[in-house]
Amino acid sequence: MFRSLFVRQMASYLVIILSALAILGVLLYSFFQNYLMETRTEELIREGKAISQYIEYYLSDLIDSRTLHYQYQVIDRFLGVTIWVTDARGNIWSSHNSSQLDSVEWENQKLTVDEFVQVLQGNTITRVGRFGESFPTPVLTVGMPLKINDKIGGTIFLHSPIKGINRTLRDTYISFWRSAIISSVLSIIISYFITRLITNPLIEINIVSREIARGNFKRRVKVKTKDEIGQLAMSFNAMADSLEKLELMRRSFVANVSHELKSPLTSMRGYIQGVLDHTISREEQDKYLAVALEETDRMNRLINDLLDLSQIQTGQFSMDIKTLDINETIRRVLIACEERINEKGMDVQVEFDQEVLLAEGDPDRIKQVIINLLDNAIKFNREGGLITLKTWQHKDTVYVKIADQGPGIPEEEMAHIWEPFYQIDKSRSREKGGTGLGLSIVKKIIEGHGQNIWLNSEEGKGSAFIFSLKSVKKK
Ligand SMILES: Nc1ncnc2c1ncn2[C@@H]1O[C@H](COP(=O)(O)OP(=O)(O)OP(=O)(O)O)[C@@H](O)[C@H]1O
Ligand SMILES: [Mg+2]
Repeated sequence: MFRSLFVRQMASYLVIILSALAILGVLLYSFFQNYLMETRTEELIREGKAISQYIEYYLSDLIDSRTLHYQYQVIDRFLGVTIWVTDARGNIWSSHNSSQLDSVEWENQKLTVDEFVQVLQGNTITRVGRFGESFPTPVLTVGMPLKINDKIGGTIFLHSPIKGINRTLRDTYISFWRSAIISSVLSIIISYFITRLITNPLIEINIVSREIARGNFKRRVKVKTKDEIGQLAMSFNAMADSLEKLELMRRSFVANVSHELKSPLTSMRGYIQGVLDHTISREEQDKYLAVALEETDRMNRLINDLLDLSQIQTGQFSMDIKTLDINETIRRVLIACEERINEKGMDVQVEFDQEVLLAEGDPDRIKQVIINLLDNAIKFNREGGLITLKTWQHKDTVYVKIADQGPGIPEEEMAHIWEPFYQIDKSRSREKGGTGLGLSIVKKIIEGHGQNIWLNSEEGKGSAFIFSLKSVKKK
């Protein structure tokens, strides 16, 4: 039952509101009861003192019995009290009752209760109850000594029915509960909206995440608040964005790989079929088989590149960081490419700052970077153009620059050439024997070293790739 956050939240609000009201109610009740009792007691004591004064006047014959009873009535009008005045032996010799009729009932009766003795000793007492069996309903009694010429000559007892106090209490209580019910209904309505405000975005995020799990990467959460939930929604949308991008990349990657593998396989199949069914003449067979062999080489290269890339991407390949002489690495790569460079009639210019330039890196991977960059420079350079290889050191960093005088790379393409399978002029690049994986591998290797690679290019003039490595101090 309490499984949904909404229900749980509402239930806790309800419990908090109700328990707060209950505690408040009990506290208020006892506070008011005490307060009403105390004020009534104070009033009775005050009136008792006034009566004591009038009785003194009466006994000194300054006022008559009628005036005394008139004073009783004045007091009674406000308090609804029963008044007893006794002599020192406990005989009630003057009394008053709010209902007037039974006022006689008390006179000439004798008080023997404990309270009378205490009052006679000079104490003022308060009691709640029926005062023995004297009253049918509970009363608040105040007893005080009657002083005549500063001597205790009797007692005065004032009894006020509790009913009146209780009625005030009940009225206060009813209006308290009335406002409590109204405010709890209001608070519950407000809590409902607050809870909805919290749970609705969470429900939405939940629905969208299920959609994404099912493969629908298009859905986004529409939460615009700036609070934690808004931030969660923003992070969630950012996550969905990158998942969508990743999914697109994965799809295009698979499509590209299949395409790259399919075309050489198709042509190889065609050549072999031709040789088998003799549509290719015997004289031409060698030529076509050589082409087929070239295609297998190409596929082999492609698969190696793919394996490299997937290893790098999944973080499975470990860098074997050593100290390497970057100039020596470049020299070796140049020697390996010499034939191709000469074939195309290109010039190579080497500018080394120092004879030996030590850097930190995985020697095989860095060699691969230089091979890929030089391969591009040779492939895309103009006929007879110049290739420049330059290394230098600045502070703790070693820089390597490989530049050519080829067609250059348009500015809008600069961001894309690092993506796997991206080639600017697909058909021309493929003619040159590439698949568009070289630069993506280069970038991943350099990033794996915690370093950077930059591209400077001007259309029609050439391109220059520069990458950095951490330098090593010579001993
Ligand atoms: N030096 C360059 N001059 C002009 N364009 C370049 C240069 N280097 C790269 N490019 C462009 O960037 C694209 C991607 O380069 P990348 O090295 O990744 O692929 P590739 O050389 O075509 O194939 P692969 O390297 O897999 O053999 C190239 O197809 C080419 O269009
Ligand atoms: Mg390349």
